Amino acid sequence: MIIAPSLLACDFANLESEIKKVSVPGAPWIHVDVMDGHFVPNLTLGAPIVKKIREKTDLFLDCHLMVTDPHRYFEPFAEAGADMITFHAEATVPFRKTDKTLAELKKYDVKRGMAISPDTNLDMLTDYLKELDMVLLMAVYPGFGGQQFMDNVLDKARALREMVSVDFYIETDGGINMSTIAKAAEAGINVFVAGTAVFAAENPGQAVQNLLKEAQL
Ligand code: DX5
Ligand code: ZN
Repeated sequence: MIIAPSLLACDFANLESEIKKVSVPGAPWIHVDVMDGHFVPNLTLGAPIVKKIREKTDLFLDCHLMVTDPHRYFEPFAEAGADMITFHAEATVPFRKTDKTLAELKKYDVKRGMAISPDTNLDMLTDYLKELDMVLLMAVYPGFGGQQFMDNVLDKARALREMVSVDFYIETDGGINMSTIAKAAEAGINVFVAGTAVFAAENPGQAVQNLLKEAQL
C-alpha cells in the first residue's frame, strides 16, 4: 500500500518544506498534478518545477499529466527526473494515438501509467495493460482537489484487479481520506493519492500514517 501525497493541495510557496513534511515511511511517492488549462480547466506546473523538486527529494515522482498531446511532455519530464509518467486515455484513444504515445514513452527510463476519468470505461485502456506499470482510476473529475470521492471507481478497480497481477499498481486519485480509503483498498487499489486529506491536516506526516493504517485494516 502506497500513499502518494498530491502537491496540488500543498503550499506551493514553501514546496521544499511541504515535501519534507510528507517524507515519512508509507509515502514513498509524491503525486505531481500537471494540468495544461486545456485538457482540464486548471493550469499548474511544468518540467522546470519537477526538476527543482527532483533536486530536493529522493521520493518517487508520480507525474499525472492532465494534458492534451501528452507525448510532447515525455522528454522534458523524463529529463527533469520524473519516475512515473501517467497520461489520460481520453487524450489519446479517441484520436488513435495511444500506440504512438506509448512507443514515445518507452524511449525513457520511467514507469508508464494510463489514467481514466470517472465517466470513462475501463475498456478504453484494457488493450494496453501489458505495456503499463500502473492504471490511475480517477475518483473525481480531473482539474481540482478537494472534491467528493465517486464510488463508481470501486467497480472499475475490482474488475481491473482481476485482469492484472497482485503487484500491478492500481492508483486512485481524488477524495481519498479517512472515510474513503478503506473501501478503495478493499476494491484492490494499492496506491492512494491524497491531497487535501494530507496537506490540509495539522500534521501532514501523521495524516499519511493514519491513512496508511486505515488502508491496511
Ligand atoms: C485532480 C488531481 C488529484 C487531486 C486530489 O485532478 O488529479 O490528484 O489533487 O486531490 P484531493 O486528494 O484533495 O481530492
Ligand atoms: Zn492527480
